[in-house]
Amino acid sequence: MKGLVLLGLAVVALAAGAGVAQPVVPAVFVLGDSTLDVGNNNYLPGEDVPRANVPFYGIDFPGGAKPTGRFSNGYNIADYIAKNLGFERSPLAYLVLKSRNYLIPSALTRGVSYASAGAGILDSTNAGNNIPLSKQVLYFASTKAEMEAAWGTRKVSMLLAKSFFLLGIGSNDLFQTNPKSPAEVAALYATLVSNYSTAITDLYGLGARKFGIINVGPVGCVPRVRILNVTGACNDALNLYAAGLAAAVKSALTTLAPKLPGFAYSLTDSFAASQAIFSNPQSVGFVSSDSACCGSGRLGAEGPCIKNVTLCGNRDTYFFWDSVHSTQRAAELGADGVFNGPAQLTTPISFKQLAYNI
Ligand SMILES: *[C@@H]1O[C@H](CO)[C@@H](O)[C@H](O)[C@H]1NC(C)=O
Ligand SMILES: *[C@@H]1O[C@H](CO)[C@@H](O)[C@H](O)[C@H]1NC(C)=O
Ligand SMILES: *[C@@H]1O[C@H](CO)[C@@H](O)[C@H](O)[C@H]1NC(C)=O
Repeated sequence: MKGLVLLGLAVVALAAGAGVAQPVVPAVFVLGDSTLDVGNNNYLPGEDVPRANVPFYGIDFPGGAKPTGRFSNGYNIADYIAKNLGFERSPLAYLVLKSRNYLIPSALTRGVSYASAGAGILDSTNAGNNIPLSKQVLYFASTKAEMEAAWGTRKVSMLLAKSFFLLGIGSNDLFQTNPKSPAEVAALYATLVSNYSTAITDLYGLGARKFGIINVGPVGCVPRVRILNVTGACNDALNLYAAGLAAAVKSALTTLAPKLPGFAYSLTDSFAASQAIFSNPQSVGFVSSDSACCGSGRLGAEGPCIKNVTLCGNRDTYFFWDSVHSTQRAAELGADGVFNGPAQLTTPISFKQLAYNI
């Protein structure tokens, strides 16, 4: 009896020692924008496609400093969500997997990322220079068809029902649109929410059941927006606009969920998550929560993050990596918050509860 227990412990210790974590879900499928992109845009043609394919992007990427297409000095939030789920990092980008003829092996064991920098809920957002949400859903549908050809419909539908669908999109639609009247604002919210609901319902129709959704946050506080004001303050109007969309998405999910049997979700309150850091950056080890670590000019946000700029001293003490995107450290804190953190950061359950309990 005692011997058996010891043996059990030894096996656990061995697994932990070898760094083998058992993933909590069979796969992760990621749809969204630059906050989640892990290299899709490097495979899109066109000069105006946003790409993080030059130094100093990736300078802290674990296992070899190199630009990977992530808009970060290292990992992004998709990587840290995937790590919390027991994977090494985010699944690879769809277009990378296609180019390497490795789409289906990855889809069946780890998942696929369709996220694309610049993408919006609307096809018209930065049109032609990204994979918009509707097309990301189509790419997932075609992935699913190939998975079924390899594995059969029953096994694939079981895998998808247990998989984690990570979504994060909407900020680019806010940046792009500039409504002039309350009526225009209301109309835009309605269109955005309707199109977002369509995408989510389509994914559900294709077999997705667990949705971890990163809602839009205080986009009026990114350095690129702050420098438009001489005081460097956040743009309150843009933040209100974003808060309105976040509330509309929250309400739409409350309505949608009961209509879709087996549908489960966790939605972040990205305002609360950012506020926790912005109100007291020092408490989490940040010396700056308003300036870009990589860039030039005022708040590091007047010039791009390219190789001739002077980086901030300690990248782990900055919230922002470039003029729009967070550092690896901020992404880690954000992911840990929505996974393990205080209940008010997610609704109606945490990412962890979604992954483990549903
Ligand atoms: C978004 O919604 C509008 C109006 O409801 C519709 O015309 C358009 O096709 C939708 N686009 C997407 C990408 O769903
Ligand atoms: C700049 O920010 C201040 C708050 O610090 C605000 O009162 C002012 O309206 C802003 N100016 C513009 C042009 O948005
Ligand atoms: C970096 O180089 C670009 C041209 O490639 C130039 O426009 C920019 O001013 C330079 N920035 C700095 C901080 O030297």
